[in-house]
Amino acid sequence: MSAFAVSGSRTGMGAATAALLRSRGHRVIGIDIADADVTADLSVAEGRAAAVAAVLEQCGGVLDGLVLSAGLGSQVKAHLKIAAVNYFGAVAMLDGLRDALARGSSPAAVVISSVASVQSPWDQNPIGAALEAGDEARVAAVLAGAGEYAGHVAYSGSKNALTVAVRRRVTEWGQRGIRLNTVAPGMVETPLLQAGLDDPLYGPAINRFVAPLGRRARPEEIATVIEFLLGPGASYIHGAQIFVDGGSDAHSRPTQF
Ligand SMILES: NC(=O)c1ccc[n+]([C@@H]2O[C@H](COP(=O)([O-])OP(=O)(O)OC[C@H]3O[C@@H](n4cnc5c(N)ncnc54)[C@H](O)[C@@H]3O)[C@@H](O)[C@H]2O)c1
Repeated sequence: MSAFAVSGSRTGMGAATAALLRSRGHRVIGIDIADADVTADLSVAEGRAAAVAAVLEQCGGVLDGLVLSAGLGSQVKAHLKIAAVNYFGAVAMLDGLRDALARGSSPAAVVISSVASVQSPWDQNPIGAALEAGDEARVAAVLAGAGEYAGHVAYSGSKNALTVAVRRRVTEWGQRGIRLNTVAPGMVETPLLQAGLDDPLYGPAINRFVAPLGRRARPEEIATVIEFLLGPGASYIHGAQIFVDGGSDAHSRPTQF
């Protein structure tokens, strides 16, 4: 029986992935702010350290897989918190659990980024360098001056920096035998998307957008891709970002890939 840790396990894609992995007979250590095997607030450094310590204790220092799904959407009014959970929360779990993964069997990690990661490319990402430097005060200062759509700046900027963080780790992790990839979902019917739809600022734009496949995804349609990326069929996929977006990225950037 393999041991996996899944952040954001309470709802949405994290819950769907945890359920799928458990249905295959794997042991899953769920991490979330409530209702999880490991209860921790990934928006603050102490919460992140406590989460890493609790997972290490529960898995006995050996993990076969890690899925990072915890995140907040653009509509959240505490803009720094969006960046804190989406970027610092994920990177701290990656780095804190890397050695446990290195001791696992055919280990792999999958990080949920977003199609939004390409809306704020690295050279135009106003918070990318500050996130990478771990400079929360500078991130806060940029977001404070980012205007009405600061929530989206925090969201797309943190997702871009997160994909970059994964790609920057590809050599070191590869040498240690751990595969590491991101999935970039489009619109997926989860509580996070519903909160965006209910928001007066972001709701109308989200509602207007229709993916080329003509519908939004169900969380289970992302979970199956994550399961594949964790498993033996993906044994040579490393450092990739897999779009699971009903064709949205190809539609908006047909010449860039
Ligand atoms: N739903 C979409 O359309 C969509 C699209 C692209 C990317 N994403 C990303 O997918 C991931 C999963 O989102 P989802 O749509 O399943 O949303 P969701 O809200 O259902 O799941 C997110 C989970 O993260 C947890 N979480 C939030 N803040 C936390 C904190 N401070 N500490 C610990 N846990 C915390 C929540 O409790 C929740 O269980 C997120 O990273 C999100 O940015 C979502």
